[in-house]
Amino acid sequence: MSDPETQMVPNPERRNLLIFAIALIGAGISGVMGYAIFGYAVGQALKADGTSGDGNWIGIGKLDDFSEGVPTQKNITVTTHDGWVNHRSEEAVWVVRNTDKVTVFTATCPHLGCKVNWQEQAAQSCFYCPCHASSFNVNGTLIKGAAARGLDTLDWRRQADGMIQVNFKRFKAIVAEKVELL
Ligand code: FES
Repeated sequence: MSDPETQMVPNPERRNLLIFAIALIGAGISGVMGYAIFGYAVGQALKADGTSGDGNWIGIGKLDDFSEGVPTQKNITVTTHDGWVNHRSEEAVWVVRNTDKVTVFTATCPHLGCKVNWQEQAAQSCFYCPCHASSFNVNGTLIKGAAARGLDTLDWRRQADGMIQVNFKRFKAIVAEKVELL
């Protein structure tokens, strides 16, 4: 049988090991939390844009890729970030060239979000939405149908190498005003 007084004497090696283990766990928790906070902060900074911090700018081609006055569809991949999660979606825009400028429309119908198509017609060519028969002229103005407003335009810019980029955004459906979704 061991002496009770011997059992009461603290073992310095054991105590140091315990302190080291607690410090290690603390450092681990701090590291994970710091990484999470950093990731969240970066995610928030990129959330609205997905690219460079000043917008969701995506290249769609050079001016000569677009015929004068004839809408051209461009498919793009949009990446957005939400915290740890990256979202990728396939979207479409319509580009109408006017000399050295372009007008870019989102292909999303402002009624309920179906995709519009350009239809060449003898009487009046138009953007047409097959879901509820809304139609829009080449300027995006509503001709008729269930939509409450014309097609939504997107900002664009030309880079030094001539590449045209579009700042992709989404807008609220149904309403008559163009309201950007965040
Ligand atoms: S979704 Fe286009 S007209 Fe309804």
